[in-house]
Amino acid sequence: MNIRDCLGCYGGGKNAESPCVQKDDMAKIYPVYKEADIVVLASPLYYWTFSGQLKTCFDRLFAVAECNPDYSNPVKETVLLMAAEGDEFEESLYWYDRLEKHLGWKSLGKVLCGGVAGIGDISGRKELTEAYNLGKSIS
Ligand SMILES: Cc1cc2nc3c(=O)[nH]c(=O)nc-3n(C[C@H](O)[C@H](O)[C@H](O)COP(=O)(O)O)c2cc1C
Repeated sequence: MNIRDCLGCYGGGKNAESPCVQKDDMAKIYPVYKEADIVVLASPLYYWTFSGQLKTCFDRLFAVAECNPDYSNPVKETVLLMAAEGDEFEESLYWYDRLEKHLGWKSLGKVLCGGVAGIGDISGRKELTEAYNLGKSIS
């Protein structure tokens, strides 16, 4: 998707249907985010944290919080799915934990799969079953 960086203009939130001043592919995400009970954050580990693409998208969701006078975010349940060559997920977990602490979101589970870099490495890994079972438990 074509998702531009947040401008930090604090000019959003005037129209709940199209909350950001920038008009790009976030237009596809805002209505889905509004309806969603659960937000699944899925990312490879890039330089010890989740991808810039995911962070950019998340920053742009601030425009939804701007619809409220106190910038409160909609409360969601959430899931974290990550893959990495190594297994240093600490920074991502720290950030993910903030969603619970500051946004009041509830984590339904995390699946972190280290040791996967090349095509096919994930084949047969127990984390695939964990992800399947997590999905089943919430569907
Ligand atoms: C830009 C970039 C940065 C990366 N940084 C890390 C890292 O800090 N730690 C790590 O374990 N793997 C790192 N990796 C490896 C990826 O996390 C790993 O290949 C992952 O399995 C890719 O998931 P994907 O197949 O879904 O794209 C990096 C890969 C790229 C392309």
